[in-house]
Amino acid sequence: MENWDVVILGAGAAGLFCGGSLRELAPHLRVLLLDHASRAGEKIRISGGGRCNFTNLATQPSRFHSANPRFAASALAGYTPEDFVALVERAGIAWHEKTAGQLFCDGKSTQIIGMLHRRMAGVEMRLGVAVEGVAPRPNGFKVSTSSGAITASRVVLATGGKSIPKMGASPVGYAIAESLGLRLTETRPGLVPMTFAEQDLDLCRPLAGISVEATVTVGRTSFRDALLFTHRGLSGPVILQASSLWLPGQPVVIDLAPDAGLAARLREARGATPRRAVATVLGSVLPERLAQAIAGDGDSGARIGAMGNAAAEALAARVHRWQIRPVGTEGYRTAEVTMGGVDTRDLDARTLQVRKVPGLHIIGELVDVTGWLGGYNFQWAWASAHAAAKAI
Ligand code: FDA
Repeated sequence: MENWDVVILGAGAAGLFCGGSLRELAPHLRVLLLDHASRAGEKIRISGGGRCNFTNLATQPSRFHSANPRFAASALAGYTPEDFVALVERAGIAWHEKTAGQLFCDGKSTQIIGMLHRRMAGVEMRLGVAVEGVAPRPNGFKVSTSSGAITASRVVLATGGKSIPKMGASPVGYAIAESLGLRLTETRPGLVPMTFAEQDLDLCRPLAGISVEATVTVGRTSFRDALLFTHRGLSGPVILQASSLWLPGQPVVIDLAPDAGLAARLREARGATPRRAVATVLGSVLPERLAQAIAGDGDSGARIGAMGNAAAEALAARVHRWQIRPVGTEGYRTAEVTMGGVDTRDLDARTLQVRKVPGLHIIGELVDVTGWLGGYNFQWAWASAHAAAKAI
């Protein structure tokens, strides 16, 4: 049976980065990287609309969802966004900051994949090999694959989450973790479009294409970013963010004009410009078609001066506290990430090593650490991979 010093399972963001970090930190080790896909780093290729939002300068543990939000702190501190930017610059890849802290390639995300490949020159990569299981044995592990068994002193499990099976995602990592007695937290799709009931679609569909900056609140957490009306309901970054926290049956509360102070504005307009149409007053804080839809209720020509206190307050509430109850999400078919995963209580935060299985490290999306939208998930992939490589 072939024997390796380290076998990395999964050639996605975390696996590729771990291979490169091992070349830098421990060049004497013989490292094998396996993936069942025909190409490595497929999610990197399609990420960020093809330009890869490769990190976020505002990275900190509070930007991650986990049953233990402090777990990610050690790895994130050990490999920072600035470290990754330095790598990108050394590779001559031009980049720009899009929205606050989100860094993208000027060119294509394949530049990042190319950089990761060059960084791990010397690591043997085999594609088209499906991982089936990992079993501890004296002084290491036996890894079962579709092309036979391999042994290794150390194994890094980096097979990612369940999202987008079409791109190679599989639940094998969770199954391997469970087979070794590790605990899993509940998994569900995250950063995913939500779906809506027919009566809500009746409102949204005619507004398709309109975008506003909105605050969306789920439970006690609020996100502020762009919201987009679509034929399928609501989308845009702020809806994806909210989806990661949303649980079936929960309402989401939307403020369509967070800085407008609409109640005061309506009061003032009733006194100062009583003959103005309600829709026109709303139009000063919302796109025209949206203002008409909200003011309308069949009578978009109504005058602001004729509006009573209760009606004005109800209108302000419809804009600032619009409550809508999604019926579901589009699921793993389109989700960018998987929430939950390998329970962090079973992992050492500094090394990502499994506490009760020395020599096995679990990194990337498979772990119960999921970033907000905006480059945080790749930063976790790089940082967790680097932490494991440093320990090996
Ligand atoms: P990843 O999924 O990258 O890699 C896992 C690897 O394991 C895959 O190559 C897979 O083929 C392989 N594998 C699975 N089962 C196997 C088996 N049985 N045998 C062998 N190999 C197996 N994040 C971000 O920070 N910025 C962004 O711009 C985006 N954009 C984005 C867009 C879209 C459409 C998606 C779906 C996701 C993003 N993300 C993102 C999220 C980001 O892509 C994700 O968090 C990382 O790729 C996770 O890295 P991992 O290496 O953990 O898993």
